[in-house]
Amino acid sequence: MDNAGARTGDIVREAYSARSGEYVDLFGSMASVHPSDRALVGSWADTLTGPVLDAGCGPGQWTDFLAGCGLAASGIDLVPEFVDRARARYPHLSFDLGGFETLDAATESLGGVLSWYSLIHHHPKDFRTPLAEFARVIRPGGGLLVGFFEGRAVEPFDHAATTAYRWPVVELGRELAASGFEVIETHTRTGSGYRPHGAITARRQGAG
Ligand SMILES: C[S@@+](CC[C@H](N)C(=O)[O-])C[C@H]1O[C@@H](n2cnc3c(N)ncnc32)[C@H](O)[C@@H]1O
Repeated sequence: MDNAGARTGDIVREAYSARSGEYVDLFGSMASVHPSDRALVGSWADTLTGPVLDAGCGPGQWTDFLAGCGLAASGIDLVPEFVDRARARYPHLSFDLGGFETLDAATESLGGVLSWYSLIHHHPKDFRTPLAEFARVIRPGGGLLVGFFEGRAVEPFDHAATTAYRWPVVELGRELAASGFEVIETHTRTGSGYRPHGAITARRQGAG
């Protein structure tokens, strides 16, 4: 990670650390998840085999959900309070403290990576750094699912934690394609009470 990326990581860590209790209360369980997101992640999980990483797992609710889908699931996050909370709540699962730009996982060792709203704070010019690492650790044919704030242009906005970015589905899909992924499905949803949502499922290229 370059200096700018490292600084963003520090800002993200401090911002979520300061509001970790509030985040856990609002979003830290599957009860707060939209039913269609749950269905999407569940059906995506059903297509995977092998270990799956919840990259930017927060308090770990999606990691537990993936494990409930029958996958060997683990999580990683920058925020110590989230990792402590995840370990306490889901002691049967493994959670690491750290950045997903440099993962411990061996090359092509994972069946999939879930990045649920965990790339939202990455500056667009740094976006391919984590994608390259996901492409390294996911085996050919494995899956990537990215959830994000959808918008008509790539643009920053004031998020409760720290600056986040909206992405048009097409633009984010281009980033994935340039990073070694084939886009499989795109989803968008709008509704009252939340920002426009996007999700993309993609497959690591290279399978025969
Ligand atoms: C909006 S929260 C989403 C958390 C979780 N995926 C969920 O759905 O509740 C964004 C999370 O991504 C994590 N994150 C952002 N950048 C990260 C990085 N470079 N490495 C690891 N975690 C990161 C943050 O610490 C935060 O927990």
